[in-house]
Amino acid sequence: MLVGLDEPDDAAVWQLDEEKALVITTDFFTPVVDDPYDYGAIAAANSLSDVYAMGGRPFLALNIAALPPELPTETLTEIIRGGAEKAREAGVVIAGGHTIQDKEPKYGLVAIGFVHPRNFLRKSGASPGDQLILTKPLGFGTTTTALKRGLVCEEHIGEAVEWMKKLNRQASEIAQQVGLTTATDITGYSLLGHAWEIASLSGVGLRLNFEAIPFIPGAKEYAAQFIFPGGAFDNRSYFQAHVRFDAKLSEAEQMLLFDPQTSGGLLFAVPPSRLRAFEQAAQQLSQPYWIIGEVTSSEIIEVI
Ligand code: CO
Ligand code: CO
Repeated sequence: MLVGLDEPDDAAVWQLDEEKALVITTDFFTPVVDDPYDYGAIAAANSLSDVYAMGGRPFLALNIAALPPELPTETLTEIIRGGAEKAREAGVVIAGGHTIQDKEPKYGLVAIGFVHPRNFLRKSGASPGDQLILTKPLGFGTTTTALKRGLVCEEHIGEAVEWMKKLNRQASEIAQQVGLTTATDITGYSLLGHAWEIASLSGVGLRLNFEAIPFIPGAKEYAAQFIFPGGAFDNRSYFQAHVRFDAKLSEAEQMLLFDPQTSGGLLFAVPPSRLRAFEQAAQQLSQPYWIIGEVTSSEIIEVI
């Protein structure tokens, strides 16, 4: 066992031989959007993300589903088809699974991938001076909550869905290609929660530049109306002791950084010596990325 409960990371890693290790993870959640196909695709992209966050290449998955018995068969079929087609796009075979009955639908995958046993991405290993790079914008939690409350604008939810369905595969491959060592994916604990995992496990601090952090269109509007899922408030009470905000940032802006993400992007610590190679590879492959801050020698996260 290379990664297990002793130093929890995005996925467990089990070494098979000198060249190969298995990356194993599972995730599932209740619907975040109305369209059952999109829900299935987002859930699958999200489940595979923890393999990518370790620098792994997923190849096999199992469905996990809990579905209300009164759910129309077409809806159920669309959820599973959304997941299956997203898995196929990732080069992953869904080899089975298990479904139970439940009041509220839940869907996700158990995902298994390969990684080199001495060459995978961890939450530890960031050093002062490393640049922090994010590969998807934020704002999915506030936007999907606006959807649930009937307050969302159609184009905003459309953009959120496209980003949430996007695999973290290419970003992970670029990280492996340029020799990065530190990464995680931004999911339920929000940017600040997951950034704090990197900071605390690496024994460093972080400085985030609010102006450089990308948000999907609409997110700031919904935030200004204080539309956030409950998890955002949990994240704030859990992580705020480790964060110092510049006085110019409003409460809504602060809350956006505690907003839980579904199928968010990868966050990398990129050493200055690898930055040029990362940017070149990302530009060549049209991989979106934003430099949102840097690693410091303090013991907190500063947001300026
Ligand atoms: Co993760
Ligand atoms: Co996870």
